[in-house]
Formats: sequence, structure tokens, C-alpha cells
Amino acid sequence: MNLNDLVKTYIKEILITEEEIHKRVVEIGKEITADYAGKDLVLVSVLRGGAFFLADLSRAIDLPVTIDFIAIASYGSTSKHTGIVRLVKDLEEPIEGKDVLIVEDIIDTGLTIQYLTKTLKARKPETIEICTLLDKSVRRLVPLSIKYRGFEIPDVFVVGYGLDFDQKFRNIPFIGILNIEELI
Ligand code: IMP
Ligand code: MG
Repeated sequence: MNLNDLVKTYIKEILITEEEIHKRVVEIGKEITADYAGKDLVLVSVLRGGAFFLADLSRAIDLPVTIDFIAIASYGSTSKHTGIVRLVKDLEEPIEGKDVLIVEDIIDTGLTIQYLTKTLKARKPETIEICTLLDKSVRRLVPLSIKYRGFEIPDVFVVGYGLDFDQKFRNIPFIGILNIEELI
């Protein structure tokens, strides 16, 4: 099965096209460029999904940024409700005194990013802010202040542009709504 067959079988609707994503990424890149001029900006992405957005966003920022990655794993099923995660890959560089922007693909309940922000704040960055491509704010369980938001989306399960279902669909260039019935 090639990618096209995968899309035809499992994607019921394209929610955000490749062009719409690109346009929005460029807009956010411009905002970040203006806001962080003269700062020591580090883009921190959460593997694996966030890497796709970070790759495009970093190239839309006209500043000498650095990038770093973190990888997390959930502690079994209870983590869904607590947001407590385990760092399976830490940042390569210290962030003390730096301006950190966490780049996420999607924020759902907000528990993961809340935990991550708390963990990184302990390292005394100058500032720490959140940038997410997608925001499913109707499902939010904790208050969060998000500095940059690509798109507000409804409570649907989406894949593509880094987002997966069972580790697949990440390399689809657009954001699509998954036909869950086909998969279970
Ligand atoms: P939360 O904000 O702690 O609930 O978790 C956010 C994480 O759940 C994201 O980083 C994704 O890995 C995953 N996630 C939430 N909604 C979706 C979706 O619609 N598609 C794919 N992954 C999702
Ligand atoms: Mg994620």
C-alpha cells in the first residue's frame, strides 16, 4: 500500500491542507522573528511529532535560533489523567538564561505540556513560552497560556504533518481526520 492508498482508506476528511499549513507557519515565523529579535532563542521540540513542525517553523524564523529535542514516554495508562511523563531523551544543552520556545504539534488536555513546562522552568530559562500548531482547546483540563497557536481544531482525532496513529501517518503532508472505524 502506498501513501495515497493509506489516505484513501483511512482519512475521511482533509482538515487543513498543505498550503494552509505552510501559510500559517510563515505567519507564525514572522511573529516569532519580531518578538525574539536580539534574544537567545532555543526552539525545543517534543519528539516525534513536533519535529515536523519545528523543521518548517525554524526555517520561517529570520533569526539565528538553536534547536533541541526532548522525548517523553507516558507512565502506563494513568498518565493520561495526570500528565506525568518520563523523559526518555533530555535536551542536549543547558537552557539557563535562554529564551525557550516549546514547539508542539498538538495540545489536547494540556497535561503533557504543563508537566514539561514545569520541568524545564526548574532549569531557570530567561523565558519559556509555548507554540503549538494545533489546539484542541475544548478538551483542555488545565489552564495554559499559549503564545503562538496555528489552528484551533474541534474534538476530532487528526493525523499527518507529524501526528500519528499507532506511529503511522506522520509523513502525510496535510492534517486529516482519521476514520477510526476503519482501524478498530
Ligand atoms: P495532552 O495535551 O497531554 O492531552 O497530550 C497531547 C499529546 O497527545 C500530543 O502530543 C499527541 O501526541 C497526542 N494527541 C492528542 N490529540 C491527538 C490527535 O488528534 N492526533 C494525534 N495525536 C494526538
Ligand atoms: Mg506529541
